[in-house]
Amino acid sequence: MSDAASIELPSWARVDERRRAHIARVTALLLHWADAMQLPASERAAWRDAGRLHDALRDAPEEELRALIPDPSLPVGLLHGPAAARCLESAGESRAEVLDAIRWHTVGCASWGRVGRALYMADYLEPGRTFARSERAYLAAQVPHDFDGTFRQVVRHRLMAALGEGHELWPTTVALWNSVR
Ligand SMILES: [Fe+2]
Repeated sequence: MSDAASIELPSWARVDERRRAHIARVTALLLHWADAMQLPASERAAWRDAGRLHDALRDAPEEELRALIPDPSLPVGLLHGPAAARCLESAGESRAEVLDAIRWHTVGCASWGRVGRALYMADYLEPGRTFARSERAYLAAQVPHDFDGTFRQVVRHRLMAALGEGHELWPTTVALWNSVR
């Protein structure tokens, strides 16, 4: 079960109710894929925890995020992933794949294994987002059958959307695209 009420978050998490519902949908989608792909229990747990914790600081105040990640070159929207990874590491989380998935989930990372790639897809394909519903539902259904091909599609979609809105592209996002194109 991954309904919003049953999602367990650390005491330092800062999420409002809408965010908690998003986290629950992302986690449910990751568990659905993990079960369809018959992943080993440890990898299934890594996917679940990446989903459960990726946005734990998404609604934290900017001062709190900047105190955790003192890099003035980063816009505020990119701080919550690295900040959550730092808090998890301080709390004893030692799974590098889980930490890297969370740290880079907003911009992507070319050296990700499956945990980061699965989270990047689930964050974009979860059914609560209102744009491109049928296309995203189709991609979500493809993940267990063609993980790498669907990941490539999701990277492309997210890149096109960022370009369409005139956003800055981060070098790590460009490197991710170059690694899968
Ligand atoms: Fe998210």
